[in-house]
Amino acid sequence: MSIPLNITINNQSYSLEIEEDTTLLSLLRDTLHFTGPKEGCGNGECGACSVIVDGIPVRSCIILAAELEGKSITTIEGLTQTDEKGNVELSEIQKSFIDEGAVQCGFCTPGFVIATEALFNRNPNPGKEDIEEALSGHLCRCTGYKSIFSAVDKAAERKNK
Ligand code: FES
Ligand code: FES
Repeated sequence: MSIPLNITINNQSYSLEIEEDTTLLSLLRDTLHFTGPKEGCGNGECGACSVIVDGIPVRSCIILAAELEGKSITTIEGLTQTDEKGNVELSEIQKSFIDEGAVQCGFCTPGFVIATEALFNRNPNPGKEDIEEALSGHLCRCTGYKSIFSAVDKAAERKNK
């Protein structure tokens, strides 16, 4: 059965008809073509599909879109700025991931960046344990994690300059 859904994604309002069993990830990727959130495990274990819902990082593969009436969603696409000429400016977190070599295949990267963004929003000056906790449960097959933690440290430094 289809149901109405009013939702805000990256500061834009959408009024949609969705199936009751549509996941947030499917809505984002398949219907609205926000392909930043990735489907890795599909069952809440890898973090690749993470987005922010009203300030809280969530795994969009295990949330039904129907539960999100009136909510505000941020995907990794929402962290960039686009000027009037269409030039895209990455966020400081995204730049730090590139600078520190924390992006290899990139499949996990949107999830790590979203988790970092949500952490900084609730704690502008996180310590090592805060960062470890925020990134726990996010899996990366490529980097060995060291460069990811360096990227988050660098982004925190840049943010607090
Ligand atoms: S795809 Fe959602 S947690 Fe892995
Ligand atoms: S960069 Fe490939 S899975 Fe993390």
